[in-house]
Amino acid sequence: MKFTFTALTALLTLLPSLALAKNTEGSLSKSQIKSIVTFGDSYTDTFWITNGGVQWPTYVARYAGITNYPYARSGATCSNNLTYRPFPPLFESQIPTFLGDKKNGTINVDPNSTLYTLWLGTNDIGMSSLLTGDNDASIVDVAGCLVNWVQVMYDNGARNFLFQNIVPLEKTPVYSSGSWPNRYWHLERNTTAWSVSMRELVLGGNALTKLMLQDLAPKLQGAHIGRFMHTLHAKNNGCSYSDFHHTGIFDSHSLFTDMYAHPADYLNGTAALNVTGSIDSCIYQTGDSDESVCTMVNGTDRDSYLWYDELHPSEQADRHVAREIANVILGKGSRWVSWLS
Ligand SMILES: *[C@@H]1O[C@H](CO)[C@@H](O)[C@H](O)[C@H]1NC(C)=O
Ligand SMILES: *[C@@H]1O[C@H](CO)[C@@H](O)[C@H](O)[C@H]1NC(C)=O
Ligand SMILES: *[C@@H]1O[C@H](CO)[C@@H](O)[C@H](O)[C@H]1NC(C)=O
Ligand SMILES: *[C@@H]1O[C@H](CO)[C@@H](O)[C@H](O)[C@H]1NC(C)=O
Ligand SMILES: *[C@@H]1O[C@H](CO)[C@@H](O)[C@H](O)[C@H]1NC(C)=O
Ligand SMILES: *[C@@H]1O[C@H](CO)[C@@H](O)[C@H](O)[C@H]1NC(C)=O
Ligand SMILES: *[C@@H]1O[C@H](CO)[C@@H](O)[C@H](O)[C@H]1NC(C)=O
Repeated sequence: MKFTFTALTALLTLLPSLALAKNTEGSLSKSQIKSIVTFGDSYTDTFWITNGGVQWPTYVARYAGITNYPYARSGATCSNNLTYRPFPPLFESQIPTFLGDKKNGTINVDPNSTLYTLWLGTNDIGMSSLLTGDNDASIVDVAGCLVNWVQVMYDNGARNFLFQNIVPLEKTPVYSSGSWPNRYWHLERNTTAWSVSMRELVLGGNALTKLMLQDLAPKLQGAHIGRFMHTLHAKNNGCSYSDFHHTGIFDSHSLFTDMYAHPADYLNGTAALNVTGSIDSCIYQTGDSDESVCTMVNGTDRDSYLWYDELHPSEQADRHVAREIANVILGKGSRWVSWLS
């Protein structure tokens, strides 16, 4: 009886501090992560640059002093079975390429010290896909596919995950109600209807992936009760951390919403701050010619913009994404990341 009572008291005393630790600290420990393996679309692609400068994974590698293994490819969707596009999708191309590289020794990734990231969904839900009804898929299929990445990567040995949700796409120039005919879409459309639908797809998709991840994370082998027990165990026995995993959501949606609402906190260029236009902007001329009239913002003026073109974040926006993720890797945590396990 005495033992039980003492143990219980100890447990009750411990609980608040553990709960606090979970909220205020990054879940990854300092110096744990040595490499980041990135999956996704053009927002993350480091081969086909879409911000006119340096993409965020390269900045993360610089800021945190780690290696980036890049698998994200422009135009990608989660699966071409669901939302077909003639670009390398996550499931049929990016994951198989990664597994091939791992198998033949092109890359060497230790589970404990590797962080896997996924930032995808923009093409799946956008024009020529869900938004315009070009396939039979729904937001439920797409969300399920995205979250399945955690399971499949886990089954292949990955243990640390950062799931980057979708930005407020209805605020990008191409999907905003004030949009114009541009390089991504110049056919007739109702820009208000696009913006309204896009907002629903983004919010619905992000809510679904969050719920699905909350459901999945505790079910991954060794993860349930894992965090609490292993934390105590590891402290007492100096045991390795490699037998439990970390799944975090990087709330890109809130970060970009904040950048949009408070640009002065993030944008630092030499032009007037601009969250509605873009650095590289093309206005398609309707009429006889098929020509676009394009303007390009140059030099230090660029860092005043949230968007690089009608669809992509600017380099300065990407620097903030990178800084936050680097802070997580450096053990400083980030207000935009919540850990599920
Ligand atoms: C995993 O990383 C933690 C934190 O850096 C370290 O304490 C532990 O020894 C590592 N385990 C292995 C198996 O490398
Ligand atoms: C896509 O379809 C192929 C053929 O039916 C199947 O083998 C594969 O598992 C499917 N991929 C996904 C991600 O559902
Ligand atoms: C390793 O596998 C990848 C993916 O299948 C392939 O692209 C690459 O050429 C292979 N490298 C070597 C050295 O065999
Ligand atoms: C465009 O869509 C909005 C929102 O659905 C609707 O209120 C409006 O009437 C539409 N405009 C036209 C010209 O169809
Ligand atoms: C934002 O930038 C675009 C493209 O450079 C420009 O057309 C627009 O006038 C700017 N908006 C503001 C509010 O400065
Ligand atoms: C930016 O640079 C491009 C290419 O050098 C040039 O064509 C364009 O006129 C420049 N834009 C401005 C606003 O000076
Ligand atoms: C804006 O801030 C970033 C760091 O976030 C810095 O790298 C960049 O040089 C700054 N831009 C300007 C124009 O000062």
